[in-house]
Amino acid sequence: PELFAPERPNSIGFDLRDVPTLATIDAARAPFHAHTWEAAPLLAGDVNAHTPKTMHNPALPADVVGTVATATLEDVNTALDAAKPWDIPAQERGVILNKAADLYEENFGLLFALLAREAGKTQLDAVAELREAVDFLRYYGTHAPATPPAGNFTCISPWNFPLAIFSGQVSAALAAGNAVLAKPAEQTPLIAHQAVALLHKAGVPRSALQLLPGAGDIGAALTSDPRVDGVAFTGSTETAMKIRSAMADNLTPGAPLIAETGGLNAMIVDSTALPEQAVTAIVESAFQSAGQRCSALRCLYVQEDIADGLLEMLTGAMKELHTGDPWNLAADSGPVIDAQAQSGIATHIAQAQAEGRVLFELPAPQTGTFIAPTLIRVTGIADLEREIFGPVLHVATFKSHELDAVVEAINATGYGLTFGLQTRIDDRVQSISDRIEAGNIYVNRNQIGAIVGSQPFGGEGLSGTGPKAGGPHYLARFAKPEAQPSGT
Ligand code: NAD
Ligand code: ALA
Repeated sequence: PELFAPERPNSIGFDLRDVPTLATIDAARAPFHAHTWEAAPLLAGDVNAHTPKTMHNPALPADVVGTVATATLEDVNTALDAAKPWDIPAQERGVILNKAADLYEENFGLLFALLAREAGKTQLDAVAELREAVDFLRYYGTHAPATPPAGNFTCISPWNFPLAIFSGQVSAALAAGNAVLAKPAEQTPLIAHQAVALLHKAGVPRSALQLLPGAGDIGAALTSDPRVDGVAFTGSTETAMKIRSAMADNLTPGAPLIAETGGLNAMIVDSTALPEQAVTAIVESAFQSAGQRCSALRCLYVQEDIADGLLEMLTGAMKELHTGDPWNLAADSGPVIDAQAQSGIATHIAQAQAEGRVLFELPAPQTGTFIAPTLIRVTGIADLEREIFGPVLHVATFKSHELDAVVEAINATGYGLTFGLQTRIDDRVQSISDRIEAGNIYVNRNQIGAIVGSQPFGGEGLSGTGPKAGGPHYLARFAKPEAQPSGT
């Protein structure tokens, strides 16, 4: 579609190497260091009385970040009755979403504080997350389509990108003119509440954007009510499957489901790779965001000839990582999201420990839900029974003649989100990229941090339905099904 205004470049963000910039960030965050926020349903109709629950900082359990009053099934009913598609010209919707992007940027101090204290995001992660959220708002706003909307669109998001993914789904559905019912992850409702407040302030009407904080039961109600016309979901593959069957049983046939799910992501490092480049890419891909990215590297395959040297360099680099309170700028790795996540990952590490397969483990703070970056030896990716959503990297070695078998093993997982390759053989880049079944393939760099507009992001197979977020085909899926072009 034609753009109503020149496309704005991606957000500049903040340069954390610049000392005056750090001082600016600190000053803007300071008023929110001990602030408490409230989250509650934001509906176009009446809200019931709810009993609020206290939210704690995953890094510092004594730090109360706020309270959340979760939505009830009655609120879901009220919200669906009051929902009205955003019936103004596409260009005007775009102007309002761009205005919301400006408001997000202006409120960086509050958002950085919440990202650290509610979601455990380090400052580096928080900067990237705000940039991505702003980029989504501007990208979808600027490309707002004039096609008829699907109608009522449910958006269900995970906690690991509580601002960026939440805002990405919501702004795409709004840009297409839908009435949005937003259900954020139960771990991060406070950030979602602030995001919706900024979108309302920018001019999105309440009947077009309602917030329903809650757990899976609220998500289930919002994906099985016949008044819902489409669903955008990001989260685990298991939940996506439940949503698909709830929609098939209850919604109009053909109602769009956009599901972006988990991955078992691999990287291959062959004997021609540049070791320093490979180690930097591995550390960032496996341990940034405490490994809590769907794109994160889970299984590293290193060619046997270089394995000893590369692993020595890798453990050396890992020793420089500091795990701790993400409010502190020195933290490279923050906490995992909650005690349940921590215990699941710790059990996985303990089992590897008992089998003598832990290659390297760093210390972690004893209070807070921390897991320190850890290396575990495996024979191959088939040893990973599930996505371990934390800073745990599994390492396998391969011999030169086993490369094809490695590619087959990676494809055999059925997932297909990200893949990394470190090699200096040009033909190999082509032949492996042609055969690997993954949505995003990264060569000689890290495999996280896709950029809106230039690196559309999304998986295939068990990792997602497509279309890719932040790409040219995404918005079309939020239109009325008969208005959607085929093959997107
Ligand atoms: P999750 O599936 O447990 O929860 C995601 C959301 O679904 C939450 O809001 C939750 O309340 C809701 N939910 C739970 N049960 C539901 C049901 N029956 N019906 C409707 N909604 C329901 O996932 P999570 O633990 O919050 O997030 C981590 C997962 O998300 C990982 O698997 C990760 O790989 C994936 N993820 C994927 C992408 C991507 O772009 N592909 C991005 C981020 C995270
Ligand atoms: N879009 C996020 C990344 O690429 C998930 O890491």
